[in-house]
Amino acid sequence: MVKSLFSKLSLTTKVSLSLLALLTVFSTILTLIFYLYLREKIIHHYHEKLKLFFLQMESLERYVKDDLRPIIFETLKNYPFQGDFILEAMSTTHISKRVFSYLKKNYPDIEYERISFDPINPENKIKPFHKFLLKLKASQPYYQGIFSWKGEEYFVMAEPIYVSKDCLKCHGKLKDAPHELVKIYSLKRDFSWKEGDLMGFTVVKVSLKGALNEAKALALSIFLISLISSLFLLLFLEGFLYSLFLKPLKKLTDHLSDLKRGLLPPNNPVDLKREDEFGLLAESFNAYMKHLEEAQKALKENLKTLETLFESITHPIALINKDCRVELANKAYKENLYKKCHQDLLLKVFMEKRPFSEEIELPEGKTYQLFLYPVFAEKNEVIKAVVLLEDITERKRMEEKMILTEKLAALGQLTAGLAHEINNPLSGMLLMLRQLQKNNLSEEEKKLYFNLIEQGLLKIQKLIQDLLTFSRATEIRKEKVSINELLEEVLDLSSYLLKKHQIIVKKDFSPELPEIYVDKNKLEQVFLNLILNALHAMEESEDKILTIKTELTEGAIKISFKDTGPGVPENIRNRIFDPFFTTKPPGKGTGLGLSVGLVIIERHGGKIYLDKTDQGANFIIELPLEMEKHGNY
Ligand code: HEC
Ligand SMILES: Nc1ncnc2c1ncn2[C@@H]1O[C@H](COP(=O)(O)OP(=O)(O)O)[C@@H](O)[C@H]1O
Ligand SMILES: [Mg+2]
Repeated sequence: MVKSLFSKLSLTTKVSLSLLALLTVFSTILTLIFYLYLREKIIHHYHEKLKLFFLQMESLERYVKDDLRPIIFETLKNYPFQGDFILEAMSTTHISKRVFSYLKKNYPDIEYERISFDPINPENKIKPFHKFLLKLKASQPYYQGIFSWKGEEYFVMAEPIYVSKDCLKCHGKLKDAPHELVKIYSLKRDFSWKEGDLMGFTVVKVSLKGALNEAKALALSIFLISLISSLFLLLFLEGFLYSLFLKPLKKLTDHLSDLKRGLLPPNNPVDLKREDEFGLLAESFNAYMKHLEEAQKALKENLKTLETLFESITHPIALINKDCRVELANKAYKENLYKKCHQDLLLKVFMEKRPFSEEIELPEGKTYQLFLYPVFAEKNEVIKAVVLLEDITERKRMEEKMILTEKLAALGQLTAGLAHEINNPLSGMLLMLRQLQKNNLSEEEKKLYFNLIEQGLLKIQKLIQDLLTFSRATEIRKEKVSINELLEEVLDLSSYLLKKHQIIVKKDFSPELPEIYVDKNKLEQVFLNLILNALHAMEESEDKILTIKTELTEGAIKISFKDTGPGVPENIRNRIFDPFFTTKPPGKGTGLGLSVGLVIIERHGGKIYLDKTDQGANFIIELPLEMEKHGNY
């Protein structure tokens, strides 16, 4: 409550109030110290005074006791008519009391007493006031200090009085006491004092009331003076602080709030003609505002550039959140009709924090490549995703065309040899048919010929069927196949060509390969090209060995085609996978085989590359085991 009230006050008032509190505390402490100092001074003063006084009285008492009294006693013995006791000359107490009464005129505030527990003169009886003296121990010769009685303070010095033998003459048995004394004080009983008893005290005391009151008044006036002067100081300080700090500050804050409310243009400088820190502050404030304005301008321009850039991207592109809600989209995205949310893929992007891509085929014949990129916040967290659509219809069509062209070329090579291959058995079969027409054959011979003809025809039928299935299948379809069997089929298809070129095929197939989902026909095409490439490469070679090896590696099936040809020259190694790159004469090569192979293998999520070997070429294909059963590739 007080705190919130305080926080609402202006800076100057805050400073002034704090200072006031501080000064009050300060002057209180100062006054207190001053008062305590004064008090100490007063006590010291009285101490010195009383000490002297005490000594004087003590000396007097000693004089009476040791010098005067014995003589008077002796003298009185000689003049018995004078009586045996003269109070004015023999009682230490009486004399000192009298002497004191004269002294008192000069020391009005000092009191002197000789008191006793059992006095001769009842006036000298110990009073309740003297109770504090009883707390003294006998060993202490003096008691001195401040003592409070009924709200008044006293400085006291006291000395205990002990009974000695010669005291008992007057303070002892009634019969020993001088008659005169008994008469004066009308004593009626004995005193019971024994030698060594504590009889009473000699007390000198002074009331501090007057002196302390004076000191208090002095301290109070000092306190008031310091308070009033600090108030004046504060008033002055407030004015000073106001013009020094608050005024320029207010000007700055007013300027700022005007800026905030849009009453002033941002580049309007605050007008503060001062040379001090506030002037500097205003200057840097103005500079900062100017800088801010420029930065804002630059930012706006940058934003505009970015917007133009964003809008002029012809690919549909958008920023989406976890729920597929579009937060920002370019023109192409807004105009694009395809808006489907790929929730599973999006989830993967958010979970695995990396980009994902998918091919989407639309019923109307268009193909899109969908890219999803993660957008990171701080702490490596994915908060949004960028979705980008790329129309790859044309590219796909081109690729398909290239695949087909290459396939046809390979088929051409296969069929060219095939005609010759078929022609030879056909001539034999024709001869056999003519023999059969002659009708002069035994049943046994007829059966043998028919069988031979049937076998030949079946062989030709299989060859043609294989070729047809290879050439026909164009639709994209994945099925579960054994890679080893697939290789056998391709080797079958090209067997007569390999035979014709006297190529030895070495098969090193791993028996433990699992079956995987692939586009059988497309993969056959890739294998066929590698086999035909090896065949072409080894045309001039002495040894013509093609080693085909399959093996299971971690998460993949690895297939290698190694030949004993001259290998791929270093200078063309990085071009052999380019479309239309060939070193072969027209008719023999299209230059598409490897590039098409690359497309097909990559569509399967695999890799194809030329490995280093000592001799010949070694092409490697790696196909992942974990492959999507369905969907496009
Ligand atoms: C010759 C007699 C005489 C002798 C000896 C004497 N006193 Fe006293 N004393 C008196 C008289 C008389 C008074 C009372 C004076 C008065 O009127 O205040 C007195 C008073 C006192 C008092 C004050 C209390 C009271 O009794 O009234 C004290 C204390 C005291 N004497 C101590 C001593 C001591 C100690 C001695 C020994 C060293 C001593 N006196 C020896 C005669 C004597
Ligand atoms: N096994 C191989 N040995 C040496 N060179 C090869 C081998 N396979 C491919 N090449 C080189 O790569 C080129 C491209 O091959 P490819 O893309 O299949 O097209 P093409 O066979 O129609 O020339 C070939 O022209 C040849 O120079
Ligand atoms: Mg080729």
